[in-house]
Amino acid sequence: MQNNAKKILVAMHLGNGYGSQPGAWRMPGVDPESFTNFDVMVKQAQAAERGKLHFLFFPDGPASERDIETQPPGPNIDVMMTMAAIARETKRIGLVATGSTTFNEPFNLARHFKALDVMSHGRAGWNAVTSSTDDTAAYYGKRIPSSEERYGRAHEMIQLMQALWGSWGKDAWVHNKENSEFTKKGAINAINLQGEYVGASGPLYVPPSAQGQPVIVHGGGSPNAHELAGRFANVVVGATFTIDDARAQRKAFRDAAKRYSRDPDEIKFFAGLMTTIAKDRRTALDRRIQLTESNFPERVAYLQRMLGIPLDINRLNEPLNQAQLTNARPSPYDPRSAHALKIAKEGWSLRDIIAHGVIDYHPVIVGPGVEAADHMQEWFEAGAVDGFWITPDVNADGIDAFVDEVVPILQQRGLFHEDYEGETFRANLGVPDQYGIDPRIMNHKNK
Ligand SMILES: Cc1cc2nc3c(=O)[nH]c(=O)nc-3n(C[C@H](O)[C@H](O)[C@H](O)COP(=O)(O)O)c2cc1C
Repeated sequence: MQNNAKKILVAMHLGNGYGSQPGAWRMPGVDPESFTNFDVMVKQAQAAERGKLHFLFFPDGPASERDIETQPPGPNIDVMMTMAAIARETKRIGLVATGSTTFNEPFNLARHFKALDVMSHGRAGWNAVTSSTDDTAAYYGKRIPSSEERYGRAHEMIQLMQALWGSWGKDAWVHNKENSEFTKKGAINAINLQGEYVGASGPLYVPPSAQGQPVIVHGGGSPNAHELAGRFANVVVGATFTIDDARAQRKAFRDAAKRYSRDPDEIKFFAGLMTTIAKDRRTALDRRIQLTESNFPERVAYLQRMLGIPLDINRLNEPLNQAQLTNARPSPYDPRSAHALKIAKEGWSLRDIIAHGVIDYHPVIVGPGVEAADHMQEWFEAGAVDGFWITPDVNADGIDAFVDEVVPILQQRGLFHEDYEGETFRANLGVPDQYGIDPRIMNHKNK
């Protein structure tokens, strides 16, 4: 492949500081205080930057689904504080944090994200999500609003925040000591916008960052998400299990961008990928077993439903028998089922089938780095993705494993950049500059 050919974009999910698997916090070499230890999180960020990854990704939301007595909460202690700590100790990697469009006011979120963008010299991204559960709403003493209201508010929030970001004129800050001119006269303007859901008059007293203003990211996949991201986002973090589905999702976002008079290449679709990288499949499976064994009873029960056959928790060491394999029917309600059956038919024991990660949030690589590189190459060359967001099993050594075992293979194949293209997140993503509201979307009415 030529040097100037399009390359795969890669992000790293850091989350709560331990890793994606429930047993990550108890693994050897893991600081059990990683949840509150900012030095640990900075070290993880630096490991991802060593691999030239494009951005770090922090989801955010309710933590209540986990058993806090035995497992850490899923979300990070505070995504903006963590990003601020990381911003000071890294130079090139993008910093994407999640902020709800339903439970924040435009002014406070605009201020936080632009301050992060200034502090990081133009590396911030905002994952604008509408929050979709009553669990989240309960934190604010509220019930979750209807989808129409959430997305109506989201369209207004993003426009208002971008208007606030642009309210400090791009060339306004002269800070000339000689003639006592701090800002150019009339170059910082009120915005006076009042929508159906949110309003602000501004101005926001934060000057432009090195990239102007933060990049808009969206995590989602529903038709509402297509419209929101198609209109505003440069990055979509998606969840998808097959090439066909990823290709369809990517196309839906690109088509939506066209509807808003944008170039579809301005929106980059990232699929999730979870990793347990080890020297061979057996070592990787044993690591996953160590990490997830406490969940096996519920996973076996769930696998029964995915395959439509009874399974015996007391026969974890045995492969499925011929009758089970003949009678198995992948559930049409779970997109992971066909893959689970494929693994079962390879003759792995019940324990190993589950250890392949057949019941996880994204496709899972359990094996040597080349398997991750092959997966990424296949999806990328099929036009299914622009990039991947990687979720390691254990951050403490899983980020290094990706950087040392997968990145060099992708680079040798000409599929991943050798170094950052520029200094800002926009430059490294290859998306256009923007300051204030994008004039191209102004003629489109809010949904
Ligand atoms: C990959 C991905 C990441 C997401 N990250 C978050 C998140 O961090 N916080 C959150 O509240 N919602 C998150 N969401 C949920 C979406 O914002 C959205 O609520 C969900 O996809 C349901 O769609 P709906 O709101 O149209 O019903 C994420 C969704 C996806 C697919």
